[in-house]
Amino acid sequence: MDTPPYQDPSLPIRERVADLLSRMTLPEKVGQMLQLDAQPGVEDLVLDKHVGSILHASPQRVLEALDAVERTRLRIPLLVADDAIHGYSFWRGATIFPTQLGVAASWDPAAAEAMARVTAVEVSATGLHWTFSPVVCITRDLRWGRVTETFGEDPFLIGELASAMVRGYQGDGLDDPTAILACAKHFAGYSETQGGRDASEADISRRKLRSWFLPPFERVAREGARTFMIGYQSTDGVPIVVNRWLLQDVLRGEWGWTGTLITDWDNVGRMVWEQKIAPDHEHAAANAVNAGNDMVMTTPGFFEGAQKAVANGLVDESQLDAAVARILTIKFELGLFEDPRRPDPVRQAEVIGSDDHQDINLHVTRRSLVLLQNSGVLPLGGGLESGLDGRATAPDGSVPPPVRIALVGPNADDVDAQLGDWAGRSGQVDWMREEGHPREMTETVLDGLSGLLPESWELTYAKGAEIGALGPDPEGETYPDGQPRMAILHPAAPDEALIAEAVAAAQASDHVVAVVGDTIGLMGETRSTATLELVGGQVALLDALAATGTPMTVVVIASKPLVLPDSALGADAIVWAANPGMRGGRAIAELLLGTIEPAGRLPLTFARHVGQQPVYYNGLRGQHGSRYADLTQDPAFAFGEGLTYSTVEYSDLTVANPVLGRDGVVRAQVTVTNTGARPSHEVVQVYVSDLVTSLTWAEKELKAYRHVDVEPGESVVVDVELPVADCTIVDAEGRRVVEPGEFELLVGRSSRDRDLLRAGFTVTG
Ligand code: NOJ
Repeated sequence: MDTPPYQDPSLPIRERVADLLSRMTLPEKVGQMLQLDAQPGVEDLVLDKHVGSILHASPQRVLEALDAVERTRLRIPLLVADDAIHGYSFWRGATIFPTQLGVAASWDPAAAEAMARVTAVEVSATGLHWTFSPVVCITRDLRWGRVTETFGEDPFLIGELASAMVRGYQGDGLDDPTAILACAKHFAGYSETQGGRDASEADISRRKLRSWFLPPFERVAREGARTFMIGYQSTDGVPIVVNRWLLQDVLRGEWGWTGTLITDWDNVGRMVWEQKIAPDHEHAAANAVNAGNDMVMTTPGFFEGAQKAVANGLVDESQLDAAVARILTIKFELGLFEDPRRPDPVRQAEVIGSDDHQDINLHVTRRSLVLLQNSGVLPLGGGLESGLDGRATAPDGSVPPPVRIALVGPNADDVDAQLGDWAGRSGQVDWMREEGHPREMTETVLDGLSGLLPESWELTYAKGAEIGALGPDPEGETYPDGQPRMAILHPAAPDEALIAEAVAAAQASDHVVAVVGDTIGLMGETRSTATLELVGGQVALLDALAATGTPMTVVVIASKPLVLPDSALGADAIVWAANPGMRGGRAIAELLLGTIEPAGRLPLTFARHVGQQPVYYNGLRGQHGSRYADLTQDPAFAFGEGLTYSTVEYSDLTVANPVLGRDGVVRAQVTVTNTGARPSHEVVQVYVSDLVTSLTWAEKELKAYRHVDVEPGESVVVDVELPVADCTIVDAEGRRVVEPGEFELLVGRSSRDRDLLRAGFTVTG
């Protein structure tokens, strides 16, 4: 029998797509547009529903599905997809990195790219072709449950890191067998919640979208992210899944993006049962296809609905053809018709969780830790060095004087809190809910300190408090569409016996390290929190520890900036570690002992109290007063903040060419001097302030940053370049424009005014 043209790799992709499309029946086309949940079983999905893609497939289901494809008429390869968003979350023993929020604290695109590359190498050996990452949403209200999945609050930094992730996933091109499809999500404005509630109506104007929410998406579209996922929320009453302006005019039109668009989980069905803007799946399917969606995630009713919609003239079959063509195109680009990229056990054994990958993970994690406060107690023992036997030693190699450390707190030895959401036991997939990742792959803070402390130091561990336990949602086991509701966290009461044990440990020690934060049940989809305070017995524990008078370091392992009690804010030192992944405890121990230097900076603002939500550094100008009647509006820690173990001065900011045209480049220099005794890793931050704008705009915006290592006593002159074309605002028509006039360049070590030097420049024209 002749080989059909679509199976001929020598033909151009366009011709192969056209040939294959011409052979497909309507059910096959509709099925090709479906991505369904593989957990209950895959054979019927492939053989009866003709699905183009599956997600949440266990290793066994992947094999079953690929085998089933061999028994189909056209043998169209499947796209196997999952949320491998900080490592391959759902493969036992894969390398689990810090969450995106942790990586964001590195302010280092190279770290983000390395994480994505390692993930792609591991994932591609398992038969997976597609990860739903990066998250390009901007964090706004910290009560939102998905803050840990974001790169924080700044559109520029998000664009930098997200495009690095896209490069890491997609490697040198989709035909590289270690490349996987990136998916920028959730397009767009999903994070502009009401009260932090997940997927609520996003009250957001087009100008606001264009000002803050769209720029990082545009950046990754231009970086070549081959897929985009849309958000759940509605804007102006229109769910994004049917927002033609966003999906067609902006994404495909203005940005010229040619990739494949996927809905989020049951977006199409939600228009029927949740948002109630479509009477049935037929209408919902028609609206979604007409708006330009290509693949429909987990709406089984789309299969019948879309066919009926075609039969009844609600949607033209040519619309389906366009969507199917885009799906087939990425399958051809990946070369799946020649090589469906089946799981490769030999490569799995070589690469998954390999020593090299664990080393890269440790490097990324070290960069993700942020030192927020330090009276001088850190590094412990005056600072140690890595010894030959793996244990820390004094810098001169001698045995350091003994120190007694009390390690307390519910997150000092909690694997799940450390790995964060989308990681094994976080609940999304059935084959890892109980077991999770091999325990020995994760180093908690207890493991890290136990392994690194000099033999002569004493370590006592006491949990001190519980956060709470997962239990049933009182509203019932399922949602109206039959999907299961997540269990909810029932907070624990302070436990006097646990606190007493921790207090006794503190009293018998020279230093307390209290590791607090949140846990799996307090983060993620549908797990927004009403408060930001430490839950369970943690505040009582910190209060009791502070009362002992023993010097204390508070380490916060948490999915989001939490509101810390006075006993924590008054501690000698505070370290924030986000959800730091498998090597988190090791990196934290190294930081406490000073065998590494702190390098991270906050990618988002820490509130002082929950009532000041949302709080971010680049808010718009214009407010009566600057505080609440009862409380301050000043954040606890601001975007860009982060200390090192040294002291550093910024001076002599000069702009060489202070009068420029719109096509000019501001050239400036600043001197960074290390006035302390230890090396300092500086993230030199460059903000711009447009002094008078025709419409309200942010007082300052991050435009550039430079990483510089400065040795004690050293002064480094740092060059800063800033194209005037970047000094834009968004005008009333939604266009990005540079408005000539007076500007200031702000350079320093955080977004706080007190940390910034200023120099003026004028844009003419
Ligand atoms: C819903 C989430 O919103 C999305 O981020 C995720 O990729 C999909 N579920 C698939 O798990």
